Amino acid sequence: METEYKGRLTYAKGTSIEFVVAPNQDVDFGDILVVEGTNKDKFYIRAYDFKVKSRWSGLNGVGYLMSKLDENGQVENQEELDFYMGGNHTVKIGLAEQLCYVNDKGQLLNPKTCPDFFCQIRTLNSEDTSLLSEIKGDLEIGYLKSGRGVLNMPVGIYGSKAITEHIGIFGTTGSGKSNVVKVLASSVIDSGNYGLLIFDVHNEYYKDLSSHPASKDRLCVYHTDVKEYGKTITVNFSEVGPEDITACATFTEPQLDAIYKLSSVWQDDWMRYVLKYDAKDIIDEVAGCTGQKFHPRTIGKIKSICWNLEQELHVNEQEATVVADIISQLEQGKVVLVELKNVSAVGEQALSTLLSKKLLTNYASKTDLERSLIKPVLIVLEEAHRFLGKKENSSNNVFSRLVSEARKFNLGMCIVDQQPRLLADKVLSQLNTLFILGLASKADRSKLEAMCRKDILQQRNEIKNLDCGEMIVATNYMRFAAPVKVHKFEDFLQQREIDYTSPISVV
Ligand SMILES: Nc1ncnc2c1ncn2[C@@H]1O[C@H](COP(=O)(O)OP(=O)(O)O)[C@@H](O)[C@H]1O
Ligand SMILES: [Mg+2]
Repeated sequence: METEYKGRLTYAKGTSIEFVVAPNQDVDFGDILVVEGTNKDKFYIRAYDFKVKSRWSGLNGVGYLMSKLDENGQVENQEELDFYMGGNHTVKIGLAEQLCYVNDKGQLLNPKTCPDFFCQIRTLNSEDTSLLSEIKGDLEIGYLKSGRGVLNMPVGIYGSKAITEHIGIFGTTGSGKSNVVKVLASSVIDSGNYGLLIFDVHNEYYKDLSSHPASKDRLCVYHTDVKEYGKTITVNFSEVGPEDITACATFTEPQLDAIYKLSSVWQDDWMRYVLKYDAKDIIDEVAGCTGQKFHPRTIGKIKSICWNLEQELHVNEQEATVVADIISQLEQGKVVLVELKNVSAVGEQALSTLLSKKLLTNYASKTDLERSLIKPVLIVLEEAHRFLGKKENSSNNVFSRLVSEARKFNLGMCIVDQQPRLLADKVLSQLNTLFILGLASKADRSKLEAMCRKDILQQRNEIKNLDCGEMIVATNYMRFAAPVKVHKFEDFLQQREIDYTSPISVV
């Protein structure tokens, strides 16, 4: 990539920098530039503001120029005015903030010192390898944006660092969240080093992801229907725990109590028995074992929910269900889609709770050695405030447990939402990687500014003006929040196809 000379440093204090923009050069808000230090070191800076100054900027100067205009403020003699404006009489000063520093050995560090007076300022180029490798990651998402341009410099995340530290993807409807998830999924397919479990509430991913050249081996899809693609979900009675039921509807205290009593009396068979016996027999049996006599209506409600789930999720007595398959595919580093569009809210909550809990229990039960042999898994949860909202989170469901405990076990959550302000603070504060897309509401933007560990306040204007498919990536191992133009999935895939089919030399 060609380097362009952009100007020279005129002032530095702490991490603040001012530079004169070279004549005939453009610098935009948000441009990331390089100050060439005098000791073979480099300073990466981001322009955030400008001021234009002239030898005529003073009150007398302005008065003098004004005297050259007619009484309507119009130019009388353009040539004369051009003389006053031209030459070196006017300068544009860029204001920038130092982002990070590369020493003469190529080590990327947080700002350590100031650059010297009149150092040269240039655009990024392919020799800025330390910076580029830090932002490149192993799961590519898009290209680095600099001001109004898009640089040919890939930006992504390092799955091994980011997944277990949780990811948040936030943006208003139409800002490009689903596209980010598709691009991320397709990078995960390329990599093979991570598992990805996506709860697909709109059935919007299979069609696109199945056109990935490696999808045959690395993409698995499940649904509750019978379709020409994918597998139908079946669950064994013993796989449904009381928590999966309590997660999916609102229950009164006695109902909750009854659910836990039933499961403690009948263990793994509790749901099967609840469906098999009448309410009266159930009440007698529980009363016999625990001394507690439940109301027939309490048991009735539980029976009814269990019945709905049995129908919808195909709960049966067969030993071989798909739950174990899903877990093992994730362990092997595959992308598993669970299509939930045709499932009721109750079924969706029960199924996503059940699968996430099985995954957590499975990973938690492994020794460190065993865990080192299986892949880290990221769980993508859409419209996450339904599970991790201010109220829901306090109920300590499986997702809030995942957010607080999963990193120990090599699991992570990817929380997708259009209204981050609805999420519990405790959840937001645990998200160490943020993909911030366009957010129409100021309340949402302020919430993220307040919760984000990276200081993104300086990029407030940029965030406000993000177009569809543009985002700011802030992650705790990256030294600054990077503006990114996300790949459009279709284009990204086309590029993949070229990569996959590039001719292997024929002997
Ligand atoms: N990075 C991008 N480049 C180009 N177009 C995009 C990009 N991201 C999203 N789009 C387009 O914008 C529209 C909305 O994107 P989508 O991902 O469905 O948004 P959301 O899920 O946030 O509602 C889609 O038609 C998509 O093709
Ligand atoms: Mg969407």
